[in-house]
Amino acid sequence: MNYRHVYHAGNFADVVKHVALVAILLHLKKKDAGFAVLDSHAGRGVYDLTGEEAARTGEARAGVARLMDLRDEMPPALATYLQLVKEGGPARYPGSPLLAARLLRTQDRLTAIEKHPEEFAALKDALAPYANAAVENGDGYARAVKLLPPPSRRGLVVFDPPFESPDEFETLAQAIRDAVRKFANGIFLIWYPIKSQAAADAFTGEVLAGGVQKALTVDTQISAPEGNLDRAGLLVINPPYGFDVEMYAAAEILAPLLRADIAVKWRAGTP
Ligand SMILES: C[S@@+](CC[C@H](N)C(=O)[O-])C[C@H]1O[C@@H](n2cnc3c(N)ncnc32)[C@H](O)[C@@H]1O
Repeated sequence: MNYRHVYHAGNFADVVKHVALVAILLHLKKKDAGFAVLDSHAGRGVYDLTGEEAARTGEARAGVARLMDLRDEMPPALATYLQLVKEGGPARYPGSPLLAARLLRTQDRLTAIEKHPEEFAALKDALAPYANAAVENGDGYARAVKLLPPPSRRGLVVFDPPFESPDEFETLAQAIRDAVRKFANGIFLIWYPIKSQAAADAFTGEVLAGGVQKALTVDTQISAPEGNLDRAGLLVINPPYGFDVEMYAAAEILAPLLRADIAVKWRAGTP
């Protein structure tokens, strides 16, 4: 295993992804009916931003650390994200499965899948206090597709792979197509790096051609040191009502703090 998220946790891309995740979860909680969250590439659940790894890249310092003095009125997703981040403190930055676990009600369920044994062991510990969170050690693509649709028939699937392998875009696109076929009304939150516009367009084009009715992208670009990731995308399939407005509002606050351009764009269907 080469990829370890601890080097990147809390960076600009994590902030935008995690605010989007919280926005979707807050929407799902508007109805009493229970929902399911499937996190296919969950990571370790909690990250020490004061540790040596985070210090070495400085990515969290240029990311979530810049939001700590925010006091203005904020859209609910950003406010809830910041509250959860502050509750843990910088040594316990919450990853996607922990953010989800913290927001679940008794009727909701989380399944978090992580392949790598060390990260999985940490994930298991991080989620142990949450009775309605289950962890699985395995391949997130195969397990996520297999577990769909969830018994509640409503919910969110998160695909956030490490992009270690040269054919990750193809594997991801195929898994999304399979997953959407099994859970057509599900919400899907997908993260990808943008190192080449053509590769990103080919990926989103392939997914959208698979019969997706509603989708939007959030494209975030920063100016980063040579060799560091400076641009990342989110593809959100079946974004819930009001998600776009929530993200436009969050982007207005986040963009100057992260020194980023954040573009929220409808790619299929309309609000
Ligand atoms: C980008 S990180 C996840 C970060 C996490 N979603 C978050 O936002 O906090 C990707 C994770 O996927 C794990 N991973 C790699 N290949 C996997 C696979 N085939 N199935 C499940 N997890 C995998 C890596 O070990 C890593 O922890």
